Amino acid sequence: MRKRALITGPFGKIGEAVIKDLLQYSDFEIIGLSHLTQEKESFWKDYHYNANILDFSELKNVVLDFAPDFIINAAGFTDVDLAEEERAFCWKMNVDLVSRLTRFAAILDSHLVHISSDYIFDGQNGPYDEQALPSPINFYGKSKLASENTLHTVEIRKTIIRTNFLYGTNSLGSSTFINKLLTSLQRNQKIEVVNSLFTNPVLTTDIAYGIRKILESEYTGIVNFAGPDYLSRYQIALKTAEVFGLDSKLILPIEIEEYPLKAIRPIRAGLISSKASRDLKLGFQGLEEGLKEFKSQLKIHEAVNNPKNSLNFN
Ligand SMILES: NC(=O)c1ccc[n+]([C@@H]2O[C@H](COP(=O)([O-])OP(=O)(O)OC[C@H]3O[C@@H](n4cnc5c(N)ncnc54)[C@H](OP(=O)(O)O)[C@@H]3O)[C@@H](O)[C@H]2O)c1
Repeated sequence: MRKRALITGPFGKIGEAVIKDLLQYSDFEIIGLSHLTQEKESFWKDYHYNANILDFSELKNVVLDFAPDFIINAAGFTDVDLAEEERAFCWKMNVDLVSRLTRFAAILDSHLVHISSDYIFDGQNGPYDEQALPSPINFYGKSKLASENTLHTVEIRKTIIRTNFLYGTNSLGSSTFINKLLTSLQRNQKIEVVNSLFTNPVLTTDIAYGIRKILESEYTGIVNFAGPDYLSRYQIALKTAEVFGLDSKLILPIEIEEYPLKAIRPIRAGLISSKASRDLKLGFQGLEEGLKEFKSQLKIHEAVNNPKNSLNFN
């Protein structure tokens, strides 16, 4: 019998990459639960199920009815600054939802795969391995740590993937730092980029591939998914300009103190992925290689989704 996978947040950056990957390379029967009604033709409309995942009785009906072997929670409140203001809603998305999914997984004996973040650390001495002691310094990070702790309250098969700075294509334009940077540089606009925040960029399609490996091997535990290059945002911006053939002189380095942010940031965050490499044989692409792949994904993505107004990279 075909295994079933249910994905929350299917139009998000990770969720969409996961659905595309599973549709193309696996035999899983899948559904994606989204609060959005996708009116336009989408690449996976047959698998899209419109549901309010925060209406827990509606969620329960859908999940118990589909009875998935795997639940992949790619939904989340991901705006780190807004999380400081909308704390109750952030908690509902990032913690209460996980608590419900954990209970459903226990009822169905499903394997729950949850995405967490390097923001559970204080950023004093990253990058961090899976053994490092979490100590979040902003509300988003606290909610992500609480989401992990919620998973440990019930005996289920579970995998916690901690990841960090993402880049990749997304149909609904869920934005990333690199998307915003590319837009500014293409318009010949200057952009200030913080020089002192460190992380390891990772391509969303690499994460999706890793998640497929987890499902196939039924791997459990905590595992980091992050690229091998540990860089500041300014260094990431310069490399992006280089790979996309854009003017790096438009990128102006600034210090974090000069940049008004609502949420305090872990300065040296980031993750070490040697466990993923050892246990799952995953090799995440370095930034240059990943950006080249992203560039070709973007060309295809734009040609399909935005043919009249395609981005024109060299
Ligand atoms: N982005 C990063 O750099 C990063 C880094 C580390 C960890 N993570 C973690 O990775 C996971 C996925 O992140 P992402 O960047 O892929 O997320 P994203 O692009 O912001 O998408 C999150 C998805 O959550 C769902 N969602 C958001 N608000 C909702 C609401 N009010 N009601 C119902 N659903 C709602 C949406 O799914 P639909 O649109 O399909 O309904 C949305 O697309 C999150 O747990 C995040 O904490 C992200």
